[in-house]
Amino acid sequence: MALVTLTIDNRKVSAEEGQNLLQVIREQGIDMPTLCHLDGLSERGGCRLCVVEEEGSSKLLASCVTAVRENMRVTTGSDRLFRYRRMLVELLFAERNHVCSVCVMNRRCELQSLALRFGVDHLRYDPLYPRLSTDVSHEKYALDHNRCVLCARCVRVCDEVEGVHTLDMMGRGVSCRVIADLNQPWATSRTCTNCGKCVQVCPTGAMYIKETFSAHGEKRPDLPKRIRDGREKHTWGG
Ligand code: SF4
Ligand code: SF4
Ligand code: FES
Repeated sequence: MALVTLTIDNRKVSAEEGQNLLQVIREQGIDMPTLCHLDGLSERGGCRLCVVEEEGSSKLLASCVTAVRENMRVTTGSDRLFRYRRMLVELLFAERNHVCSVCVMNRRCELQSLALRFGVDHLRYDPLYPRLSTDVSHEKYALDHNRCVLCARCVRVCDEVEGVHTLDMMGRGVSCRVIADLNQPWATSRTCTNCGKCVQVCPTGAMYIKETFSAHGEKRPDLPKRIRDGREKHTWGG
């Protein structure tokens, strides 16, 4: 495998050709915020929280979907990047109805953690307060569109790990929704295996296990990588 040399935060590093910037940044021990990225799933490049600056360019690069290049010089943390990330988190809160105090994932939610990290204690943008539904038709699981941040982790794990592609996205922009099969109640899906992987990777309270998901319910965002490693390397421990 050919190696490339690049500079990250004034540090010269080597990386394998074809690696994405996010992988290399994390290998350097840098705490890069992400939301749509999840180890074990394909990259989506949707949330833009992982943006970095590249010397010589005014454009910000989403590091999870940017391949390393020879001699590139990137900065992972700056006032501009902090402001940008904080604005993205605020916009996610403003787009749907995130009422943390009555959410099943309160205090264990990745969006809430990001808000704490970027000091989001109020919104500078008018919330849209859309009228959205919750699909509670499934025997075990619920899908609450009010809490969805459209990261598509559920869609990808259902397709790439479970292999059934029950879930998908419908619509664009503020009309975008996660759907089951042909936009029908989840319980009527003829492809869903009831595996629950989508629930385990959802970063917010948009997907949860009915009844059992209380203050003690923890999700398993490490699941896709563990399953992939288990299949590929036969490491099923843990
Ligand atoms: S429970 Fe499993 S099969 Fe059903 S939608 Fe979720 S990930 Fe897909
Ligand atoms: S339901 Fe959860 S995992 Fe799926 S797109 Fe929405 S926030 Fe992401
Ligand atoms: S983690 Fe890179 S765009 Fe979401």
